[in-house]
Amino acid sequence: MRAVVKETRQKQELDNRVFPRPDRTRILTVANQKGGVGKTTTTVNVAAALALAGLSVLVVDLDPQGNASTALGVPHHSDVTSIYDVLVDGTSLSEIIQPCPDVDGLFCAPATIDLAGSEIELVSLVARETRLRRAITAYLADRDERIDYVLIDCPPSLGLLTVNAFVAADEVFIPIQCEYYALEGLSQLLKNIEMIRTHLNPTLHVSTILLTMYDARTRLSAQVADEVRTHFGSETLQSTVPRSVRVSEAPSHGQTVITYDPMSTGALAYREAAAELADRGASSGDTAAESVSPESGTGLGGAAQVDETVHSGASVPAGGPDGEDVR
Ligand SMILES: Nc1ncnc2c1ncn2[C@@H]1O[C@H](COP(=O)(O)OP(=O)(O)OP(=O)(O)O)[C@@H](O)[C@H]1O
Ligand SMILES: [Mg+2]
Repeated sequence: MRAVVKETRQKQELDNRVFPRPDRTRILTVANQKGGVGKTTTTVNVAAALALAGLSVLVVDLDPQGNASTALGVPHHSDVTSIYDVLVDGTSLSEIIQPCPDVDGLFCAPATIDLAGSEIELVSLVARETRLRRAITAYLADRDERIDYVLIDCPPSLGLLTVNAFVAADEVFIPIQCEYYALEGLSQLLKNIEMIRTHLNPTLHVSTILLTMYDARTRLSAQVADEVRTHFGSETLQSTVPRSVRVSEAPSHGQTVITYDPMSTGALAYREAAAELADRGASSGDTAAESVSPESGTGLGGAAQVDETVHSGASVPAGGPDGEDVR
């Protein structure tokens, strides 16, 4: 009962909260080459929360699995013109973008299964790394009304699709799952981001980290969160997303949890995270000066230590289903 009162109050506060519009379109790539850490869930729910607050948001589904398209209720069967056509054939984004049926101001560039072959097809094409950037730049320039946020959902790999996403974005948004081995591979991700920054996109930087599937009842979640905040204090959002059954159910209804169960802890957490993201980007989306780099104390060296620390220190077993929040 007390929890219901708390959630009702939290929802009312969020309903009244004003999300500042950024000075210019913020383009964020949601990436982590580790699979199943909540990239897609974070992309669609943060996008829906921003749109619900009155901002206009485009989700680019860059994963052949098409999970973001599914969660946004956007058709992506094999006949649909999709992001594959944009990358490989140069189709314009405006031809493929579809509105999300449940949330005003939210749009999706869907992915079809064709995209699975594009990693190979792109190799022989001209400007293979910059194809998405060109398409997004042209689309944004053509629009009368500004898009406030572009969120790009990456596949769990560091191939050409992810490279295209890094080249197209200014900011990297990394979801980290609060589990054993959570930080494994993070140093590789940071190294790749640094490489893209040096050679292809000098504005790219890690601006945002979100702790996902946080289970307040396990020591492991708290340990992972502490490690992440120690090494990436300024990038990590205060809000964490709890493990919640409603979050995992929503995509099978073609919805985000924001519309599927607005009162659930998962929906409220994603709205809090989106509000924080919007607040941080209010004055300037570009915080490159503070960016994480392998040379900096919080960069690769730190991440390598993090890998070690988490492997050796966080030996508490991951929370099982009984640690789950049923809402
Ligand atoms: N907060 C949460 N509570 C419960 N389940 C969650 C939560 N976040 C994500 N999940 C579930 O975890 C699984 C992985 O999430 P998701 O698909 O977002 O990860 P991903 O990083 O995009 O995966 P991939 O690497 O395959 O693209 C999904 O089944 C999703 O529904
Ligand atoms: Mg995904």
